[in-house]
Amino acid sequence: MTEKTQVGRLAVVGAGVVGLSCAWRAAQTGWRVEVIDPAPASGASWVAGGMLAPITEAWPGEEHLLALGASSLDRWPGFVTELEAAAEAPAGLRTDGTVVVAAGAGDRAELVELAGFLARLGRDVERVTARELRRREPSIGPDVRGGLCVPGDLAVDNRALLAALRAAARRSGVRFVPAAATAVSSGPGGGEVTLADGSRSAGDEVLIAAGAWSGALHPALAGLVRPVKGEILRLRHRAGALPPPSRTVRALVEGRQVYLVPRHDGGLVLGATQYEAGFDTEVTVGGVRDLLRDAERVLPGLAEYALVESVAGLRPGSPDNLPLVGRLAPGVLCATGHGRNGILLAPVTSDAVLALLAGTPVPEEAVAADPGRLAGREVGCGSG
Ligand code: GLY
Repeated sequence: MTEKTQVGRLAVVGAGVVGLSCAWRAAQTGWRVEVIDPAPASGASWVAGGMLAPITEAWPGEEHLLALGASSLDRWPGFVTELEAAAEAPAGLRTDGTVVVAAGAGDRAELVELAGFLARLGRDVERVTARELRRREPSIGPDVRGGLCVPGDLAVDNRALLAALRAAARRSGVRFVPAAATAVSSGPGGGEVTLADGSRSAGDEVLIAAGAWSGALHPALAGLVRPVKGEILRLRHRAGALPPPSRTVRALVEGRQVYLVPRHDGGLVLGATQYEAGFDTEVTVGGVRDLLRDAERVLPGLAEYALVESVAGLRPGSPDNLPLVGRLAPGVLCATGHGRNGILLAPVTSDAVLALLAGTPVPEEAVAADPGRLAGREVGCGSG
């Protein structure tokens, strides 16, 4: 644990994985922290699959994001050890690795391209035949034509993680304020949060970590963070069905992406759709149909599983898919716009926020996430 060297008041707006991680770690270093959220841990972090997958999420042209994700992944084992000790509860890390598979001829070509891109970047990726894949993961079906093994891409049980973060934050003295924030501004003593009832809460610093809702809280974020809807299904293995895979399985099925993330308790998270649909969080019939159809192409035994939950969340998308982590104004910081990668990026984001609070340099890979890069830019309809 870092030594307590500084004491000030920090208000964190948003109790998702990013807000909670920053709140907990700031409290550890001596900040008096309050977290403002009407429904803590109920947004995108609650819905998430929990993949810690910078390599298999990598995309040519997004090398800054890959570097940031890889840097955060390196921090995950230490982050979990510290969190589990602070919370006295498991955080649900799984270290079995990830396979990426192709279910169609065109998909295989895309996978070969991804393997080449990752090899050029020196990432640990092994190309495997369909037969070898099925030897390692017997639940993978005959439609799959080959794939990649990526041992370094991990996963975490997002709900265990959120419970551990809430417990660790409470035990470090973080106070939870069950209210909605409507605006954040600079104030005479630092930063100020206006609440829905018109009252104000002041801090030496305010951190905006309100996910897809962040754009409405401060003028410098207006138009830079947008909701990107994702639907997820939660399945449970039933006696007699083929056992779930031990690794995360990511698949390309006729150009569409689907992933299956196993949990320690026999659960399997199947995700995710991706739409630009505003603040809509209803699960649609079409979304469920697409996910099940594509997932069954990869793991045919899923038909025997129980379907226990369908849920939608809103990823906070940014114009260039990099998050926005930095100072917006005196007394006002932000850690938002994490898109598909909020859980992965929580450790490096909290390190960056601790550095900003202490007035020291942020981790090198986080420099690219400074929101100043987007000054004057409006949000587009990027891939999220
Ligand atoms: N991290 C995967 C997703 O957002 O669906």
